[in-house]
Amino acid sequence: MRRPIIIGNWKMHKNIKETQDFIHEVEKQISKIDNIDVGIAVSAPLLETAVKTSNKLIISAQNCYSQNSGAFTGEVSPELLQSLKVTAVVLGHSERKTIFHETETMINEKVITALANNLQVILCCGETETEYSNNQTETIVREQLKINLMNVPETALANIVIAYEPIWAIGTGKTPTAEEAQKVCYFIRTTITNLYSEAASNKIRIQYGGSVNPNNINDFLQQNDIDGALVGGASLNVDSFLNLLLAKG
Ligand code: PGA
Repeated sequence: MRRPIIIGNWKMHKNIKETQDFIHEVEKQISKIDNIDVGIAVSAPLLETAVKTSNKLIISAQNCYSQNSGAFTGEVSPELLQSLKVTAVVLGHSERKTIFHETETMINEKVITALANNLQVILCCGETETEYSNNQTETIVREQLKINLMNVPETALANIVIAYEPIWAIGTGKTPTAEEAQKVCYFIRTTITNLYSEAASNKIRIQYGGSVNPNNINDFLQQNDIDGALVGGASLNVDSFLNLLLAKG
């Protein structure tokens, strides 16, 4: 049995006080939920506050660089994240690719360094709307994973969660049907079998992300190959985030 994992991706939202209030409220309410992993991915300057405030949540960064130190103005080192007791990092989010021009190879380098610093990696993949319309989803996702996971040994997969995020579903209110998302997540699992082994693909957790909300989360989580969700907009409001967790928990 794969343990479900739900992560709220706050993107560039919230300040220190809002972060403390949110974590206090969520932790009060989820004290009885012990069958899912729950976390939040916050802006770098909020990480220390989040780690210090939280007892139960996975505190994740939203990005890091592929080197531990050096002349890389404005970047955040995985080693520093680890020293802050941050336990996870989201890599390859489509906003990093489209707005900040990250390539699949850059993401691969980041994955390797993040894993070497004992961070759990939430690795995003997914197709654009045009690729979706042209039935290229599987080709695109396979190519992304092949490059992103290059030189990542099978033993390291225990620290990777894959998030399938169709780009056209992010922040748009549009989603694939749960069956469509399941089909792609099954394909991702098959890709892991081909790149590694069936044992590895049975173990790896795969999230769906893109306009997940308290009303549709269960449709996705009921699918055989969807083990959780990466949630943007609906994770910003405490009540909505709690509703997502309680829908599952
Ligand atoms: P959304 O974002 O839930 O607001 O669509 C998801 C994401 O970007 O991870």
